[in-house]
Amino acid sequence: MSVIKNRRILDVLSGEPVDKTPVWIMRQAGRYLPEYKKTRAEAGSFLDLCKTPELASEVTVQPIRRFDLDAAIIFSDILTIPDAMGLELKFEDNRGPYFDNPLDNLNDVSSLSNNVNSLEYVAEAIIHTKTKLNNEIPLIGFSGSPWTLSTYMIEGAATKEFRKVRSIVFNNPEMLNELTKKLIKSISEYLIMQAKAGANILMIFDSWGGLLNTNNYVHFSLNPMKEIINNLRNNEVTKNIPIILFTRGGGGWLNKISEAGCNAIGLDWTVDISDARKIVGENICLQGNLDPCALHGTEQSIKDAASKVIDGYGFGHRHIFNLGHGIDQYVNPDNLGVLIDHVKEYSKKYHQN
Ligand code: CP3
Repeated sequence: MSVIKNRRILDVLSGEPVDKTPVWIMRQAGRYLPEYKKTRAEAGSFLDLCKTPELASEVTVQPIRRFDLDAAIIFSDILTIPDAMGLELKFEDNRGPYFDNPLDNLNDVSSLSNNVNSLEYVAEAIIHTKTKLNNEIPLIGFSGSPWTLSTYMIEGAATKEFRKVRSIVFNNPEMLNELTKKLIKSISEYLIMQAKAGANILMIFDSWGGLLNTNNYVHFSLNPMKEIINNLRNNEVTKNIPIILFTRGGGGWLNKISEAGCNAIGLDWTVDISDARKIVGENICLQGNLDPCALHGTEQSIKDAASKVIDGYGFGHRHIFNLGHGIDQYVNPDNLGVLIDHVKEYSKKYHQN
């Protein structure tokens, strides 16, 4: 097997020392980059971009050409799984992703396909990307969590209150349990497919876990993610792959999340990273957690905000710098350059022997 040259993130994930805090950025391939907009226009639409491996791999490496990033993340979307399961994914520029016929009842769930073979295009995009990356840095593969995918599949889109899915938690848990079961299977297979194609790290996005109360979070989100992790640990291809788990709004459940079997926990920006470290201990990495809006500040305020996160983590090698959520489309790319260079320079003092 080929050896990746920049191993900072892999080292941090396995507890090895590094020279600087590694960094990558959620949604690093996206609309804040003019070159992304150009390739997306060439593809015709967001979904065509996702489904055309050559172009998806091109936008995956665009941020790598510009910035000193320590990992790439495959360009795709979490909603490709529901699409493959039979809920046709649609996308409109001013609306975002949506499903015309969201799930209402157990029958709708039963008619979903449980086969992710049609997601081959993601595996192909990974293969193209690995060639382009030439083993310089690792590639992150990803999926949404069962709960987060359920919210979109039941609501049809991100909504203001998520009242439909949050009600189903209480008035039709059988339906949600059945959907969760199907998603655990699809997601596990999909992540294994990505690892086979060459993904070096896997991340589960639980973007809407924070909508639930604690016991429902454990039942509908955390335990299903644990099952996925167990499935990955029981597969030859993925048994040792590093896994990052990110529950947005999960700051109050860090002790529970740290028992899920993941190698790193993603933190949103509402969490104090030094408190988080005290809770999860030294066996698990922390990823995050700069407020994405810090990137709308001045050069100095961006550096100051990043320094606070790095100081908050302090000495030690188990921090992957990132934002607390995805970068937004209005960020000036130069500001991201300022951030990344500063993280590299400023963090050195915490990694001297
Ligand atoms: O991080 C990366 O660079 C990889 C690509 C990636 C995208 N979506 C591309 C994308 C990843 C990892 C995702 C994950 C994703 N998608 C999540 C989980 C992370 C999170 O943000 O909480 C969620 C909830 C989605 C669903 C989704 N996709 C929404 C709500 C939207 C609309 C919001 C928006 O930013 O426009 C998308 C569209 C989307 N996914 C875009 C990109 C680059 C913008 C599409 C475009 O107009 O070109």
